[in-house]
Amino acid sequence: MEPEDLAKPLAPVDYDRVQHQSYARGRALPADALQAYMATFGAHLADRRPLVGIDLGSGTGRFTPSLAQAFGGPIYGVEPAAGMRRIAEAESRHPAVSYLDGRAEAIPRPDATADFVLMFLSWHHVTDRLAAAREIRRVLRPDGRLLLRSTFRNRIPDHWWRGYFPGSWDVERAMFPTEAETREVFEGNGFKTLAVVHQALPFEGDIAGAVARLKLRAVSVFEHLSDAELDEGFARMDADLAAGAIVEKPTYGDFIVFGPRPR
Ligand SMILES: C[S@@+](CC[C@H](N)C(=O)[O-])C[C@H]1O[C@@H](n2cnc3c(N)ncnc32)[C@H](O)[C@@H]1O
Repeated sequence: MEPEDLAKPLAPVDYDRVQHQSYARGRALPADALQAYMATFGAHLADRRPLVGIDLGSGTGRFTPSLAQAFGGPIYGVEPAAGMRRIAEAESRHPAVSYLDGRAEAIPRPDATADFVLMFLSWHHVTDRLAAAREIRRVLRPDGRLLLRSTFRNRIPDHWWRGYFPGSWDVERAMFPTEAETREVFEGNGFKTLAVVHQALPFEGDIAGAVARLKLRAVSVFEHLSDAELDEGFARMDADLAAGAIVEKPTYGDFIVFGPRPR
């Protein structure tokens, strides 16, 4: 990537073009990892059940049925990409879950009806962040919570695969806002920051499985790397896998918990 490319904003990732075909398989989480996420989210939510939730940018519904199981629901998976929604509707069904066509800037739910909104790796795709913050404030109940899980530019994780795709550092620096920028958007639009969580994440599963999943390229940073970079990186990865030389690294998942400030 040329330095001048970084000055231009990255083109948005169109999940209807490629990613929806492989996302569910490429990003699948084992049941115990899903449970651990639900416990982590639950620690920041009200104790009463059921809780009404919005999975904002729900994709293929990776978390949506688990949210219904853990918190009762109804849970609304709001997702702009029809291809992602179609997979969610086929593969991530639950009686308390509905998938809706919408986006963070226009959430198809009434005012003050949600106990929580989860944004899991969807915040950096939102183009009008001020409009999104106002919409989330609108749909949340006064004691509701926004759980915003994202990568932040100031803390980009050194994933186990990073060394194979060194260009991914620059792509992610251009792709993700900082934690401070994110807080500024919400704190300037009716929210207070309640917690900033740096969650340690273990290496998931076995390395051969991780390589196979990564090869499905269901990671949006790969959309911004050239085929040559990807081919070279995967070739080195295959050689290291055969030699038993890939280092399994733990990582971390950052999230911020926001709550509405009284009007
Ligand atoms: C990396 S995927 C995450 C999906 C899901 N939350 C998960 O963790 O599996 C990002 C999702 O955000 C969606 N997205 C893009 N722009 C959005 C917007 N403005 N509002 C809400 N979601 C958006 C994409 O279509 C995509 O499905």
